[in-house]
Amino acid sequence: MPKRNALEIKQLKKFYPNGFPALKGIDLTVKANDFFGLLGPNGAGKSTTIGIISSLITKTEGTVKVFGHDLDSDQQNVKRHLGIVPQEFNFSIFETPMQILVNQAGYYGVPFRVANTRAKELLELMGLWEKRNSMAGGLSGGQKRRLMIARALVHEPKLLILDEPTAGVDISLRRLMWDLLQKLNKDGLTIILTTHYLEEAEALCKNIGIIDNGQIIQNTTKKELLSLLPSESFIIETTKKLPKTISLSCTQHQTLSDNSIEVQLNTEQNLNDLVLELNKQDIIVKRLSAKANRLEEVFLQLVEDPK
Ligand SMILES: Nc1ncnc2c1ncn2[C@@H]1O[C@H](COP(=O)(O)OP(=O)(O)OP(=O)(O)O)[C@@H](O)[C@H]1O
Ligand SMILES: [Mg+2]
Repeated sequence: MPKRNALEIKQLKKFYPNGFPALKGIDLTVKANDFFGLLGPNGAGKSTTIGIISSLITKTEGTVKVFGHDLDSDQQNVKRHLGIVPQEFNFSIFETPMQILVNQAGYYGVPFRVANTRAKELLELMGLWEKRNSMAGGLSGGQKRRLMIARALVHEPKLLILDEPTAGVDISLRRLMWDLLQKLNKDGLTIILTTHYLEEAEALCKNIGIIDNGQIIQNTTKKELLSLLPSESFIIETTKKLPKTISLSCTQHQTLSDNSIEVQLNTEQNLNDLVLELNKQDIIVKRLSAKANRLEEVFLQLVEDPK
């Protein structure tokens, strides 16, 4: 039997009460066990979409199915399969992480003894065991974020949706969260993530949807998306002051300072030729870096200049 899709959204529309069309009829399919990135600029409609899937926002039109269960006719099963980590913290600051997790499990009908064991496992997994009996309000931003993830997992959902899970999280913790999410995905959990850190999407996601202005403008594999990039920019730093004129037959370039240039390479051109050509002119490359993350470049090109 073919695997059911984790999420199937058809012609989803949302007009807010003030008439604002936040979603203009989006179609989105996420396969079971995918790690899917939903990207888009501020105000694109990401949180609105997630709010509708999690029954916090009512849709205007369209259908939403989670593992084949329709949001309109089978909301109980949609909720059972779904773990949501919203963009804003929304737990009680006067409860402890242990209480928050056990209570959440209770909402889903998990027996107390099982809930206690799961809460313990998740708090350990998230590095929050030491804080289990502290008031949640006193946790740091990163700890609160991890508590939100633990809470979303306590009823063992099959689909985890995270709305900017690493916003405001420091780099080392972000890497730990990446490892953790990748491990959960490997163990069979389907994950949908929104993020503004495109290197995060590049590192984690298998498939990517880009939403802009209430419409899906791209929905494809990460690989396909990266292949849309017509050229990439690199910054080259040289050991010595650059001569006034540099001739580079293989690519376009512009001087940035006495010892740095920016070059654009298209998909047929390679960096090795460029370095050899510089070497022939007695220019030695000291450092070389990509100007921007590759996905970031595609994203900017698509969002600024939608096809
Ligand atoms: N309650 C509301 N009433 C009216 N308009 C709203 C409401 N909530 C959101 N919007 C508008 O809908 C659009 C989509 O908002 P949404 O929060 O879904 O964007 P987003 O993609 O999550 O953005 P961000 O990256 O900033 O979190 C925005 O223009 C927003 O101003
Ligand atoms: Mg949002």
